Amino acid sequence: MAKELKHCSFCGIEASPSVPMIAGTEGHICEACVLLASQVVSSWGKKKELTEMQEFLPKPIEIKSILDQYVIGQNLAKEILSVAVYNHYKRLKHVNATSGGIGEANSEVEIGKSNILLIGPSGTGKTLLASTLAKIVGVPFAVADATTLTQAGYVGDDVENILVRLLDVADGHVSKAEWGIVYLDEIDKIARSPEQALGTRDVSGEGVQQALLRLVEGSQVKVSIKGRRKELHGPETTMIDTSNILFIAGGAFPGLEKHIEKRLKPPKTAIGFHAEVSNPDDKPSLEAMLNATQPDDLKRFGLIPEFIGRFPIIAPLEPLDVDALIQVLTEPKNALVKQYQQLFAFDDVQLDFTQDALVEIAEQAIERNTGARGLRGIMEKVLRKTMFDMPSQEQVERCIVNAEVIRGEAAIQVIEREAPNLQRLSAGE
Ligand SMILES: Nc1ncnc2c1ncn2[C@@H]1O[C@H](COP(=O)(O)OP(=O)(O)O)[C@@H](O)[C@H]1O
Ligand SMILES: [Mg+2]
Repeated sequence: MAKELKHCSFCGIEASPSVPMIAGTEGHICEACVLLASQVVSSWGKKKELTEMQEFLPKPIEIKSILDQYVIGQNLAKEILSVAVYNHYKRLKHVNATSGGIGEANSEVEIGKSNILLIGPSGTGKTLLASTLAKIVGVPFAVADATTLTQAGYVGDDVENILVRLLDVADGHVSKAEWGIVYLDEIDKIARSPEQALGTRDVSGEGVQQALLRLVEGSQVKVSIKGRRKELHGPETTMIDTSNILFIAGGAFPGLEKHIEKRLKPPKTAIGFHAEVSNPDDKPSLEAMLNATQPDDLKRFGLIPEFIGRFPIIAPLEPLDVDALIQVLTEPKNALVKQYQQLFAFDDVQLDFTQDALVEIAEQAIERNTGARGLRGIMEKVLRKTMFDMPSQEQVERCIVNAEVIRGEAAIQVIEREAPNLQRLSAGE
């Protein structure tokens, strides 16, 4: 019997050893058509997700009020971020709606992407703000540390790996990853890339900046998905379009504040029109500082002008003082004090901190100079012994932590519950 010639039912190509076919009940399909169909289907997904986001994209005021539940202070940064994130996703929604998902806008005014630069000391909430924003708009989120990034081919973390991580968080859905948020930490130290430490050519970290620039500007990037696919014989690479990914870069930029302050000092009237805080000690407001920040100020940290140009929105963060740190300890939804209280409550123990204990913790954190980041370490050290003993001590009802405990001068005060039943039991034995 003559072997029947197989053709792809979609494009008509003839089957051959190099063009294998997948058989269906009434026809065949070739690999090229499968891939094309897959692209079409994923663009359906994209559209569907977009309609969902269209419905749920919160307004700037709503974004800010959710941020308020997790992040203490930083009002100016929160306002700037709420607007920027809202505009970014509104623009995305528009581009998609007018172009049928291909990604080119038909409207007359093409709105460029505005990535965001967060400037503020360590432990003041930069990463927290970026990750909370991603949660609010419901998009995948990845963090990359600029100091560990290297150019492709060097030892270290390839810039492309950021996208692989984003894709992982998006459960492998390319279209979801393409709307994600990437936080680039320690961007002020990018000039000090690992290559410099190794003594190789790229002293300025410029290669890394160029590589990052390509990502940030928006381009098609080929990423390896080797070993990350559920199917055994899927492709080993995939293309990710970065033009809709929102990049938020953050850094402490030490010395920047002093530099700008100096520029602001001479004319005493140079205080922002909308300055929220009055400045009795002549310190310019955060907003005035922001308005006075120029690209050149950032160049001093080794950032190349093209890179700075891609981050047109700057949001400044303030150092957290004792009051703010106490708020961080107690107020956010997942505040540290609440977390430890919950842990103790699981063992039926009430955990209390006196006000002076909270002040002491905040002051110690300020000494460490790592903002709110030092808080957990201090808490952990103070509570460790108790957390070791307490689960085995059923008679413990309440633990009280005061300033002396934090200073290491006293033990945690333990109040035991009255246990008439236990006493009776042991008496009857
Ligand atoms: N403004 C803030 N409000 C609430 N918590 C904060 C704030 N700033 C920092 N934290 C806490 O400190 C930790 C470190 O903050 P992070 O956002 O990583 O700081 P940064 O990125 O600015 O160095 C976070 O896990 C968070 O719990
Ligand atoms: Mg951080």
